[in-house]
Amino acid sequence: MDIISNINFENLSENSTFRIRKAKLYDAYIMTTRFIILTLAVLAIWITIFGQIVPQKDPNYDENNVPKFDLPDPLTTFSGKKIKNSSEWIEERRPELLTFFSENVYGKVPCKIPIYQWKVVEQSGNALDGKACRKQVDLIFKKDNHTLRFNILMYLPNEAEKVPVFLGYNFYGNHTITNDTNILISDAWTRNDKSLGIDNHRLTEDSRGVRANRWPVEKIIDSGYGLATIFYCEVDPDRDDFSDGIHPFCYIEGQQCPASDEWGSISAWAWGLSRAMDYFEQDKDVDASKVIVFGHSRLGKTALWAGAQDERFSAVISNNSGCGGAALSKRRFGETIARINAAFPHWFCKNFRKYNDNEVALPVDQHELIALIAPRPVYVASAEKDLWADPRGEFLTAYFATPVYELFGKDGIPTQEMPPVNQPIHNTVAYHIRTGEHDVTDFDWEQYIKWADKQLLKK
Ligand code: GCU
Repeated sequence: MDIISNINFENLSENSTFRIRKAKLYDAYIMTTRFIILTLAVLAIWITIFGQIVPQKDPNYDENNVPKFDLPDPLTTFSGKKIKNSSEWIEERRPELLTFFSENVYGKVPCKIPIYQWKVVEQSGNALDGKACRKQVDLIFKKDNHTLRFNILMYLPNEAEKVPVFLGYNFYGNHTITNDTNILISDAWTRNDKSLGIDNHRLTEDSRGVRANRWPVEKIIDSGYGLATIFYCEVDPDRDDFSDGIHPFCYIEGQQCPASDEWGSISAWAWGLSRAMDYFEQDKDVDASKVIVFGHSRLGKTALWAGAQDERFSAVISNNSGCGGAALSKRRFGETIARINAAFPHWFCKNFRKYNDNEVALPVDQHELIALIAPRPVYVASAEKDLWADPRGEFLTAYFATPVYELFGKDGIPTQEMPPVNQPIHNTVAYHIRTGEHDVTDFDWEQYIKWADKQLLKK
């Protein structure tokens, strides 16, 4: 190009004009060839690294557009060995899967942070018209110059001595789960929701009881269970900021955020549930051998990860947990790994980003997370209209985890056919899809109680 632009065109003979035209043509030919080679090279690198040609633009909600994929077999180790019995599962396969999820999906907890002290900050034997005892217990953590406190709100039926307990996080503070005016209001940072009276990232009286619809406290107490709940932002505020919450407790000098294989927020919240479990082991009113960890949506993802790691949880419930929870990632239906990592960069560990629009490269899928809970009972629940969470993908994780439960002689999900709406399967691996939206409803709780009666209390 440069040679041509330096020529004085007015003094040229016809012959030279022809040559110049030829040279221009040749030059264009070279440029086009280079461009094609470069494009092909970039495409080849893209396919090698990312496994797929074009990232998805709009979420897929069409079953016909679910890509073909190979689902990893929970009963074959990464090196190809077939697992034939429960002891091989416990000794070989379970640990390698746990390590994979820990270092590549949720992130590992880099240091030990035991409870420094716990304090009952409020208690009454006369809650719910005398039916229940209410306790508000602070767990306090201290390390170097860090202090963190989170509060467990508990309602325990008065008539029994040591009771089984449902434990789950709430989204907007303990005071939102009932109208009980004795419940303390958290001063932790919160997400805003004007429709719930929550503004300026602070909780006030305005939001008391606003989530009572999701927590049928009386029904739970009348069924003989206790309820324990924690405001998740007290453990780690749900924002992309690793300078707050529990994460800084484990930083080495100069560290400002977790390393690529270290904990994101879901892992931090799961850590908090295990510390609540440490406390229950000390509380004479709780039957610590019957704690059912429960969670909705992002907190359902959290309940699954907590239950997978901490075998003291005797049962696990995932309510509409979706992507990164109970839904199969490789289906790319509704929310995908790339979408969740873009919208919530703090939830998973950084290593998980390797699988953005690259689910083919993922050597595990979420059915293996469910399998990590085996042989303990696990309940996966979906809602018909909650397509973002991929109800069929949630059902299939329960189905594909079943072979691991069968190694222990437990019953899982018998067929790949989804049950009709509102017709639950209450096996050790349980599933229901109910009518309605992404939510926690009375129907959901009625099923959880019935199933817990059957699985844990053998009623
Ligand atoms: C978003 C997110 C989901 C999550 C949900 C929730 O919709 O994409 O992954 O489950 O929030 O926690 O409410």
